[in-house]
Amino acid sequence: MPGDAQKTFYLETFGCQMNVHDSEKVIGTLLHEGYRRVEAVEQADLILYNTCSIRDKAEQKVFHRLADFKKLQAQGKKFGVLGCVAQQEGEKIFERAPHVSLVCGSASYRNLPQMLAQIEASGAAATQNLDAPKPEARNLIRITGLDDRETDKCFEIEFTARSNPHRGYITIIEGCDKFCAYCVVPFTRGKERSRTSDSVLAEARQMADLGYTEIQLLGQNVNSYRDPAGKPTSRKSFAQLLAAVGEIPGIKRVRFTTSHPRDFGRDIVEAIDAVPTLCDHVHLPVQSGSDRVLHAMQRLYTREQYLERISWIKSAKRDISITTDVIVGFPGETEADFAETLSLLDQVDYDGVFSFKYSPRPNTPALRFEDPIPDAEKARRLEVLMAKQKDSQMSSYKKYIGSTLEVMVEGRNEARSQWVGRTSQNKTLNFSAPEEASPKMGTYVPVRVIGSFPNSLLGELVV
Ligand code: SAH
Ligand code: SF4
Ligand code: F3S
Repeated sequence: MPGDAQKTFYLETFGCQMNVHDSEKVIGTLLHEGYRRVEAVEQADLILYNTCSIRDKAEQKVFHRLADFKKLQAQGKKFGVLGCVAQQEGEKIFERAPHVSLVCGSASYRNLPQMLAQIEASGAAATQNLDAPKPEARNLIRITGLDDRETDKCFEIEFTARSNPHRGYITIIEGCDKFCAYCVVPFTRGKERSRTSDSVLAEARQMADLGYTEIQLLGQNVNSYRDPAGKPTSRKSFAQLLAAVGEIPGIKRVRFTTSHPRDFGRDIVEAIDAVPTLCDHVHLPVQSGSDRVLHAMQRLYTREQYLERISWIKSAKRDISITTDVIVGFPGETEADFAETLSLLDQVDYDGVFSFKYSPRPNTPALRFEDPIPDAEKARRLEVLMAKQKDSQMSSYKKYIGSTLEVMVEGRNEARSQWVGRTSQNKTLNFSAPEEASPKMGTYVPVRVIGSFPNSLLGELVV
């Protein structure tokens, strides 16, 4: 049967939304090349991991997976490592996991079809034999796609396999040129490069035609977007692009992440005020509330400049929810620096904080900084910060009780007989609905809030 002869692949994704969306494009590429996706490693001819190396724990995941499934190599299965660990570790991955055949960073995905063809050609010739005594008898197939900050092209393809039929991602800018002292991304994702606004808008219109109603614009620093094409006068700023996507007929919600404070202009807030489809939410990572630490991190802004941006967001006509990322225990962070981060949380009153313990990363300047803070102290600071934020969200989420919010229906929790919705502010609102009024996935419905938790709201469908 021809179906049985079809090549199969398994793909697991770690890391951020950019990786999730890259995987959708990689899956689309593989399907186009005649592969079929399977849900179990054991059923696949080709096993791929799209990896993250933002913190050490994330990086280790792929090596655990590779060790767990190493024995499958004897059955002729091929393994590939994609994404940020691939770009960071390069050929060292072959030494650590000799059963890997493909190592490819995100800036080289455009070349995947050729790489797959090479793997297939070599696979047809011989299977690898890791135990053979002589290297030449092992038939090791080693294909690499490593870029090293050369490419100025984006990964734009026509066959993105989006996993959700209602909301989808569009990457508008790839890479990063900011080089924060702690961060691997400039080394793993290549240099900063934007797509043309024409191509972004064409993709957004195509999605609207297919029935998508929510679009999330992505970039490591989405608001550092610079339209590369056309006459300077016709180029769109990030805020103009955001507004243009929001004005596409059929689009009901537009989100964007992640914004870098340095490139956050007041025009973004003005666009949110002017275009109702732009969601009431800004994720603006601060990392630390201490100027001393911000300087050491090379974040390129001060606490005061950051708070100025927050004041623009707070002075908007709409109630814009603000979330952030914080790193605790950066080398040299004193108790006083940490106290400044806590006081910044008080001042901003965030709706959500993603907090992380500093993790030393390869290639980064911070690796060379003296780091006298014991791990237990970093863990303590993280706990203090999280407990404080939980208390603060406990009271801020309460204020929605009694109000009616529009949610997009995103899921169903059978165990609790609840629907899962998301508000414009990106809050999760779990709600009940009478059986005869069961809402459809992807629709927008009004929900009255009747309860609150630190990270979600509880409600009832308004019928
Ligand atoms: N481009 C975004 C952040 C992308 S990385 C920005 O500049 O704001 C996502 C988050 O991971 C960061 O905001 C930071 O809080 C965290 N992070 C990055 N490197 C880290 C490290 N070495 N240790 C701990 N957390 C880190
Ligand atoms: Fe990393 Fe800084 Fe770039 Fe964000 S801006 S991805 S934290 S280097
Ligand atoms: Fe991780 Fe790479 Fe994203 S390091 S957070 S997958 S950019």
